[in-house]
Amino acid sequence: MRIDKFLADNSIGSRKELKGIIKAGRITVNGTQAKDPGMHIDPEKDLVAVDGSVIEYERFHYYMLNKPAGTVSSVREGASVTVVELLAAENVKNLSPVGRLDKDTEGLLIITDDGELLHRLISPSRHVEKEYLVRTEKPVSDEDMKRLEEGVDIGDDKLTLPARAFMQSDGLHLIITEGRFHQIKRMLEAVDNKVTYLKRLRMGGLLLDPELANGKYRKLSDEEITILKTSGE
Ligand code: URA
Repeated sequence: MRIDKFLADNSIGSRKELKGIIKAGRITVNGTQAKDPGMHIDPEKDLVAVDGSVIEYERFHYYMLNKPAGTVSSVREGASVTVVELLAAENVKNLSPVGRLDKDTEGLLIITDDGELLHRLISPSRHVEKEYLVRTEKPVSDEDMKRLEEGVDIGDDKLTLPARAFMQSDGLHLIITEGRFHQIKRMLEAVDNKVTYLKRLRMGGLLLDPELANGKYRKLSDEEITILKTSGE
């Protein structure tokens, strides 16, 4: 990889600014001053430093977003704000949300440029758990919860897979292992009810950080990335 691209990807400056930074002798590669913006480096092996501070190379980027209602999960979408646009300041290319949440759904959305992990987490064969907080128009009876757990007809060729449903002080919690279109809303319709509020709380072993305010995002820790990578195994 060209050193100016590496530096630009790590937000050290624009390609144009970097010419000056390199010329000023502020960049070293394995301790030797870099002179040419076109110089090639191996980001996995070479130690690149700016003003003596080594730049930690991140091959992939992983974020947790507490998605606010009103944003869309697709990568590009007419006039609506996309979840990826909320991370524009990160200046990371090829970010995508891991699965989709409806425009009015809030909560945990993983955003990454690690395509392999993304596909693994949304692959139907992996049955990665997704836990939702669901508020509804009418009370949900024990009988309804039993039906939701056993599987309901939401108009597809197959019933929904077994799920887990339990009542907490904040509302109904529903854990599903599929990701069908509008699945939770359609499941509640199948028991003659209607979702009025929906929030994702967990994906695999990764919980939404309760300290992360609605609309905010942060990088995942190394430990959280490992939790995600081992979810659904
Ligand atoms: N199920 C839904 O109905 N909507 C979502 O956003 C996620 C799951």
